[in-house]
Amino acid sequence: MNSRGTLINLNGRIIPLAEANVSVFDRSFLYGDSLYEVVRTYDGKPFRLKEHLERMEKSAILCSMKFSQSTDEYHREILKSIDAYRAQPGRASEDVYVRIVVSRGSGKIGFGLGNLETPTLYVIIVEPISMFPNKPFSKGTKLQISSRIRNSPKALDPAMKSGNYLNSLLAYLSAADAGFDDALMVDHQGFLTEGTTYNLFYANRGIVATAPLDVGILDGVTRRAVIDLCVEQGIPVREVRFPKEYLYEADEVFVTSSLKEVLPVLDIDGKKINKGKPGPIAARLAESFRELVKRELELA
Ligand SMILES: Cc1ncc(COP(=O)(O)O)c(C=O)c1O
Repeated sequence: MNSRGTLINLNGRIIPLAEANVSVFDRSFLYGDSLYEVVRTYDGKPFRLKEHLERMEKSAILCSMKFSQSTDEYHREILKSIDAYRAQPGRASEDVYVRIVVSRGSGKIGFGLGNLETPTLYVIIVEPISMFPNKPFSKGTKLQISSRIRNSPKALDPAMKSGNYLNSLLAYLSAADAGFDDALMVDHQGFLTEGTTYNLFYANRGIVATAPLDVGILDGVTRRAVIDLCVEQGIPVREVRFPKEYLYEADEVFVTSSLKEVLPVLDIDGKKINKGKPGPIAARLAESFRELVKRELELA
């Protein structure tokens, strides 16, 4: 137990924070040789946990990682950790951020799998969701298009949610340094891909567009949900490659992720989008996303 409630599950054992250590020979530490997923709960229930774990399985295939545990075990342990978090005094009604990290394991230094001396290791970190406050919808977010390009799928495929986030982290740091909330990234041809930890959409004349998966982005669980919501509601939606000028001139721009849900972008590179106000399509999708969560998780 600790003051902010942080709960750690290491390889299936809930342990005190002070004992939550991994080896200096762990490959996640040495090489970023790990995978991860992030989900959040609503009234204690994680949204689309199964899809997140399926994506982690796909990530494992992309980096030839063989899990020593089953994804059923990850699923069970995540639910157990959420319950254990909420069983702490005064935390029964708190929603949480859950991060699962799976490292290829630890052993002797050297890339070869023959150096591995342990099975894959996993850590589940549960934090209060209040540590990750969303920007209010009305305030939206202010982004910079980074000069640092998104990894090519032929280098480190962004479809793989690996523990190597330096590409995104460096884009974030320079955007933050320049006074922006965060960054968007283009590919080597100047087509927009996604944000550092979120997917990107724009709307023009009632049509919603987002970059296709093969430009090199993460197949976001929220992105997929939002595309489905557009289809359901008869909002035309396209997956297209687009340059930054399309964003500057768009009626609306918004980003999506498990933590941000649907968040409007009101400023890009200092240019106001929709005169700096959230637009009606983002508002409608944000609202219907919340309704979808409620419906699917059977919340009151
Ligand atoms: C690079 C990147 N893109 C998009 C997303 C959004 O994915 P999701 O909607 O599944 O949270 C994330 C979330 O972690 C991400 O890291």
